[in-house]
Amino acid sequence: MLRRSFLDCAVKGTVGILSAGLFTKGFAQEDSVDFNITKVQINAGLKKPLKFLHISDLHMAICDGRDPKSLPKAHGRNKLMHNPQNLWKPIVQYARKRNMPLLCTGDILDFGTQKGYEFLSESVAEDTYVFSSGNHEYFRWVNPAPEYNVKDVIEKTKACFKYDLEFSSHIVGGLNIISIDNANMNFTPRQYELYLKEVQRGLPIIILCHTPLYTQKFYEQFLSDPENKSPNLCATPVEKLQHLAEKFGNKGVLNQRASAFTEMFAAQIKREKLVKGVLCGHLHMQINDTFESGAVQTCADAAFKKELQEITIC
Ligand SMILES: [Fe+2]
Repeated sequence: MLRRSFLDCAVKGTVGILSAGLFTKGFAQEDSVDFNITKVQINAGLKKPLKFLHISDLHMAICDGRDPKSLPKAHGRNKLMHNPQNLWKPIVQYARKRNMPLLCTGDILDFGTQKGYEFLSESVAEDTYVFSSGNHEYFRWVNPAPEYNVKDVIEKTKACFKYDLEFSSHIVGGLNIISIDNANMNFTPRQYELYLKEVQRGLPIIILCHTPLYTQKFYEQFLSDPENKSPNLCATPVEKLQHLAEKFGNKGVLNQRASAFTEMFAAQIKREKLVKGVLCGHLHMQINDTFESGAVQTCADAAFKKELQEITIC
């Protein structure tokens, strides 16, 4: 019955079915913007289904005269991505009208500026139900400021939110939504400790993180685009990175090697039966896969391309 009503909601387009999830593609308009909608269903054994709007990689380059050296870069990036800031309001409206709390999995800002952090704290933090940070929130294209350092930008991003961006848990309707920052492709022992405590609660879990966890399908699908020379996944096996380094002569790809700790934690997430889904982004490509546990990992295509995901968790 649930499956039928879900299919009934589908606007038009293709349908894909994984063992634990169901995907449909469609279109919808909001505030004169034509969005591409991917509908994803994740089975988590909830008494009552929950719906969310998931976006990733909006890449808003927001800048004013307080960061004068970044202005030309912001202008160029906005031109390249067709002023993604104009999409924020329609996205929020889309979510509100349909009663779907907004989930963001990072790179909502293209790079850090004073104006950008203001927008993050005044609009994004207010309009989003759960946020997980991406590498671009911690990023500055233009880095001439002597006072700049990564720690500083990470702190500035974290200060925009009332909850801990490194790790936070949000319980709704019997579901535990956990946001874990893996923007630098690694996990920390502190995140692991907190994760174990959440598993102890025994509720079904959905993880939000920016960087998808390695699976063979994600690796192959992302690299099937000849433009992509490195997998950009969390905990890619080292032999797979080695292979790419030899193939493309790009030794930099080995920098994507995860710590042994991250490999252990990622493997544990993929095995954990309570983890029902992982929502992520970073790749600017819609990719779906299932872990050996049956959990669905879905990567949202970039929101600056007007790609949104409606997530139904049953
Ligand atoms: Fe990213």
